[in-house]
This record gives sequence, structure tokens and C-alpha cells, in this order.
Amino acid sequence: MRRVYFPLVNNQTRVPSAEEKRALYAQAKQRIGSLVAAEPDRVARMAGIVAVLHCLLPHYFWTGFYRVCGGSLVIGPYQGTPGCGRIGWGRGVCGTAWATGQSQVVADVHAFPGHIACDARSASEVVVPAFDASGRVVAVLDVDGLVAGAFDEVDREELEEIMASWGEG
Ligand code: SME
Repeated sequence: MRRVYFPLVNNQTRVPSAEEKRALYAQAKQRIGSLVAAEPDRVARMAGIVAVLHCLLPHYFWTGFYRVCGGSLVIGPYQGTPGCGRIGWGRGVCGTAWATGQSQVVADVHAFPGHIACDARSASEVVVPAFDASGRVVAVLDVDGLVAGAFDEVDREELEEIMASWGEG
């Protein structure tokens, strides 16, 4: 297999252009496609998805999954500074994505009612629900950026595409 090196350090304040984002997501989808196909364990797949996205996308400051565990979202595999452990149903951006089953693109987290600040440096975010084969939300993929407006429809579309085939049958 061709050797591909992931970058060691991203400059997380640089937001790529739409064209650059598309090219980076294309690379990410290729890597993620082969890893989810080979791995039946859900948490292992989450860990791989997070690692690939966090390393490849320069505007990602915090990248992780929250898993639906009973009445809460509980932190799963992530990369970045320490995240909050549990989030209630309907709370913050992640809880809203869980409750509605809809992706959330938030250009300015400070303007989002009930936003949960795990790291005060997070300025914007995108959250995409992760469904099981029966269409139930089993987790959310949460990505935070250091600058306002880091995420847009390109990120939402690409992340939804990734989560539409994340190995759930
Ligand atoms: N941003 C989330 C909280 C989780 S952290 O960003 C890691 C929210 O308000 O749902």
C-alpha cells in the first residue's frame, strides 16, 4: 500500500477554502471507508474516524463522539483537549442533534442557547448524528473549531456522507 503520512500538527486557526475542504474530505473518506469496512466494533470505528478527520482537517480543534447511553450522551473516542463527560438529552448543540436527529452547524457557539463550553476556546462547531441500522441515533459526532464560522454546508454534507456509511450494516 502507498505510504501516506498524516500531518503531525495542524494550524487550527486556518480554515480551508470550500475547494480545499472537498479535497481533504475526499482523502478522509477513502481512509475511513477502508477502516470501517474492516472493523465490526463500533467504538473502534469511532476511534478511527476521529483520528483520520482530526489529523487531516486543519480547522478541527476538537473532534469526538458522544455515545447515547441511557438518558445521556457519554463521551467516546475523541482527539483534542479534555471534553465534558456527559451531556443531557436536548442539552447544548450535541443534545440538540441527538433530540432532533438533525445535524447542527453553529457559526458562533456563544449565540447558541445552552451551548456547553468544555474548552472556552471553541468558537464554532458542527454536530452530526450517527444512526444504527434501524435508524436510531446511537451517537453524535461533534467537531469544534477555534474560529467563528469554521464550519459550513460543505462540512455538514461531507460529515453526513461519512456517517451515512460508517459500518452499521
Ligand atoms: N459543544 C458541545 C459540548 C461538547 S464539547 O464541545 C467537546 C455542545 O454544546 O453540545
